[in-house]
Amino acid sequence: MSIKEIIASRKTSKVLAKSPLEDDFDKVLLESLVHAAAYAPFHYSASSIHREKLPDQAPEPWRIYVLDRTICREVRKWLIGQNEKSKIPEMLAAADMLLQITWCPTREDEATGSNEFEEFEASQTNMEHIAATASAIQNIILVATENEIPSYWSSGGPLRKKETFDLLGIPHDEILLGAVFFFPRNIDQNQKVTTFPGKLHDRRSFGRTWCQWIKELNTSSNKTTTLKVDAIVRMGRNSKSPHKY
Ligand SMILES: Cc1cc2nc3c(=O)[nH]c(=O)nc-3n(C[C@H](O)[C@H](O)[C@H](O)COP(=O)(O)O)c2cc1C
Repeated sequence: MSIKEIIASRKTSKVLAKSPLEDDFDKVLLESLVHAAAYAPFHYSASSIHREKLPDQAPEPWRIYVLDRTICREVRKWLIGQNEKSKIPEMLAAADMLLQITWCPTREDEATGSNEFEEFEASQTNMEHIAATASAIQNIILVATENEIPSYWSSGGPLRKKETFDLLGIPHDEILLGAVFFFPRNIDQNQKVTTFPGKLHDRRSFGRTWCQWIKELNTSSNKTTTLKVDAIVRMGRNSKSPHKY
């Protein structure tokens, strides 16, 4: 597949199993997905408080915690023991790998260290840390798509709670951007699971309104410029389907 075909075929697959799946899986391939994050763009280094925790003081503003299938099943058990009612335990029963992907907020006054869990300043630096981390996540998901591995980027529900961070040894000064699940290939053919698509998957507009050419500048002598409807670029067909690459 070309990169455009990979981008266009990426989709959310939420896979639920009532009891743990134990079929064969390719751990080396799964690990190699994570490496795609290494090429994501980032504008600012993580602040020293985060860098100092790593042996090489790596500058990237994201952190990735890899949970293999065994650990996924153990977290599932732990969540059930906590009386967790969401679908996350069922996804942990089906997943071959879960990535807990966090970003490292830069704090104005690092010395006090007084921030609450998940609290961050609305600075440009933090906006760009999040953007960089999202790029890292998308890189990983695209390589998964290339390898026909179903994936699901979740906000995490119980996986973003302080107690889960403690369970996994994730520092409290990081914030979860994605709990990203990877499921067995050809999962559609597995009778033991139920698969759901992303809820907004079929609501894409393919750029019919959110992308516009700038036709005129709003200079002082020309203050009345308004958006012209005919300036709207059509990135996809006027139907529900995108360009075919
Ligand atoms: C930052 C982020 C967080 C998401 N969190 C959730 C989530 O918690 N629950 C969920 O059902 N889908 C979640 N999704 C997946 C979206 O629902 C999905 O991308 C959307 O429905 C479009 O479907 P598609 O990915 O198949 O194109 C998340 C996506 C992103 C980018």
